[in-house]
Amino acid sequence: RLPMILDTDPGIDDAIAIAAALYAPQCELKLITTVAGNVSLEKTTRNALQLLNFWQADIPLAQGAATPLLRPLHSAAEVHGESGMDGYDFVEHQRQPLSKPAFQAIRDTLMVSAEPVTLVTIGPLTNIALLLSHYPECQFNIRRLVMMGGSAGRGNFTPNAEFNIAIDPEAAARVFHSGLEIVMCGLDVTNRATLTPEFLATLPALNKTGHMLHALFSHYRSGSMATGLRMHDLCAIAWLVRPELFTLTSCFVAVETQGKYTSGTTVVDIDGKLKQKPNAQVALDIDVEGFRHWVAEVLALAP
Ligand code: BDR
Ligand code: CA
Repeated sequence: RLPMILDTDPGIDDAIAIAAALYAPQCELKLITTVAGNVSLEKTTRNALQLLNFWQADIPLAQGAATPLLRPLHSAAEVHGESGMDGYDFVEHQRQPLSKPAFQAIRDTLMVSAEPVTLVTIGPLTNIALLLSHYPECQFNIRRLVMMGGSAGRGNFTPNAEFNIAIDPEAAARVFHSGLEIVMCGLDVTNRATLTPEFLATLPALNKTGHMLHALFSHYRSGSMATGLRMHDLCAIAWLVRPELFTLTSCFVAVETQGKYTSGTTVVDIDGKLKQKPNAQVALDIDVEGFRHWVAEVLALAP
């Protein structure tokens, strides 16, 4: 099984990505860390703990950064609801995050792991940037970083910038310059990775996970319930366990941190015009039917 750490800002599409990380037989989820993004850190942490409690999953959770490195937080409550996971009433519980911050917990997990660990990020990259600045020595035990973030084309937060990168461009720039092996699943594939209305309609009867996700999806504003919902974050897990569904191109990616209109844009140099060494493998195509089959398969394994 693939040892992994998942950094997340739940987030409705984060919720189904967490389900897949817990129930895909190929994954060994060692740690979940939360970051401010879709909503405040307090809310993303509460949401992640509610999900772990829902699944009675004994995965340690550490709370991460409350704000981007240098900027104030712009949330995405209009996409995920005020709570970040509107639509389902989770039961009360006593779960608490670890007493150490996310970057410290990630470091500790990396340092004791017998094999290299994959970092999967489905929110802004703030925690990872903090990890790399504070503990560069733990980079040796990072197998690679698989991210949902960025775009080689248009954005979804500004005309050019994707949300996870645009919220903390300085953190993203640091990560792309780190020398880590990076797989970028951006909007080029995630906008196409939709679940169909027909499949969504089957969820309530599938199992209690399907029932809960369906309730969240009814409040999710990425795509539409009538034409299909975009499973941005789930693509990062899909790549990890079913890489053959994706077509990757190795190229240089820079993050614009300065532009008046373009801050947070990932400049994906597919044709090598900038004459820089490739620093990422960028997913540019996805087998959508294969993705949908895999989603159905993995959700059927959940309780
Ligand atoms: C990303 O932004 C968030 O709203 C989603 O959870 C996903 O991580 C898509 O751009
Ligand atoms: Ca997310």
